[in-house]
Amino acid sequence: MIIEPRMRGFICTTSHPKGCEQNVKNQIEYIKSKGNINGAKKVLVIGASTGFGLASRITSAFGSDAATIGVFFEKAPSEGKTASPGWYNSAAFENEAHKAGLYAKSINGDAFSNEIKKQTLDLIKADLGQVDLVIYSLASPVRVHPVTGVMHRSVLKPIGSTFTNKTVDFHSGKVSEISIEPCSGDDIENTIAVMGGEDWGMWIDALKAENLLAPGATTVAYSYIGPSLTEAVYRKGTIGRAKDHLEATAFAITDGLADIGGKAFVSVNKALVTQASSAIPVIPLYISLLYRIMKEEGIHEGCIEQIQRLYQERLYTGYEVPVDEKGRIRIDDLEMRPDVQEKVAKLWIEAVTENLSEISDLEGYRKDFHNLFGFEVGGVDYKEDTNEVVNIESIG
Ligand code: NAD
Ligand code: NA
Repeated sequence: MIIEPRMRGFICTTSHPKGCEQNVKNQIEYIKSKGNINGAKKVLVIGASTGFGLASRITSAFGSDAATIGVFFEKAPSEGKTASPGWYNSAAFENEAHKAGLYAKSINGDAFSNEIKKQTLDLIKADLGQVDLVIYSLASPVRVHPVTGVMHRSVLKPIGSTFTNKTVDFHSGKVSEISIEPCSGDDIENTIAVMGGEDWGMWIDALKAENLLAPGATTVAYSYIGPSLTEAVYRKGTIGRAKDHLEATAFAITDGLADIGGKAFVSVNKALVTQASSAIPVIPLYISLLYRIMKEEGIHEGCIEQIQRLYQERLYTGYEVPVDEKGRIRIDDLEMRPDVQEKVAKLWIEAVTENLSEISDLEGYRKDFHNLFGFEVGGVDYKEDTNEVVNIESIG
């Protein structure tokens, strides 16, 4: 079968197994090129199939020879339909890990549920005994609460007043003004329920209760801050409240791990093109301008470069982990550099449909977006007939 990208709104409904495999191989090669990291050896990654979570799994496995268990929610291929990219990524990751003699198993299902938690705990118990690093990298629009059964939906809205600003349809390159009405009702509570720290805490409690966390175990979840340009819709909006909650949860988890000397961190990461971020209005325009400036300055990073730096220069230096005044690890330092932000803010004012391809890296944005689904990846022959059967038994 020849697979082509099929776009529907902000998502692509097809994905390419060979392209996804090549993306994973490229990330592995990058990690190998950076040398050994003196990191954790038994690692659980929750949200392990795409974006920052996949990069974390690859960095642990190929930077520190770690055994990894990955949890994610992805669609397997079915009659006439491709799998979701995270499924192909994970199949490719497992292939490569096994070839390298590394333990790697995956659990495909709803990480918010008691069932998937239990399956994961059982697998750790049976195969690894304990884990010494837990990466929490879920991005989801919904969560069925495991205790109440209520289905919470997160929203991306400002709080208090309508937010009006520029946005871009990155497929067409059309810049327009968008107005987003403020949240109402239970929007804030629901967004916190989905993207806040409660589920992270539940995972760590469950692991600890069964003595599956090694002494000194570390857990890391990912957050975002970003510039004043996006503040109303991101950090000071409903999603920001969830991130505040996630960040506060780190302290509560650390308190709960005192007896085993464990620690929880939130790492603030850079804005990047992922399935999660492309759905947020205003953010794609910001990222297109940011990419332009960061590439010009030679300081652009993708997920894998970010996580490599997180491990090598923050988590596993042999010294205390450096944090900001709020206790957070910062690997968004290059994005937030004042000179970078000043340049982005200037371009933001200038940006219109007519000049966008000139002043922004819209092309880079589009390419990264296609890459997420395994398309436009260098070295892949897209005319070749694709063999759909990739190591299906080992995942899910
Ligand atoms: P992503 O969409 O690439 O990855 C999300 C992961 O969560 C996937 O592995 C997916 O399978 C998994 N997942 C979703 N729902 C699930 C469920 N119910 N059960 C099990 N797995 C599920 O997203 P990402 O951008 O890598 O985001 C990960 C984290 O990083 C989020 O907390 C996000 O806020 C944060 N972050 C993102 C950016 C950015 O610009 N993309 C920047 C900073 C921080
Ligand atoms: Na992720």
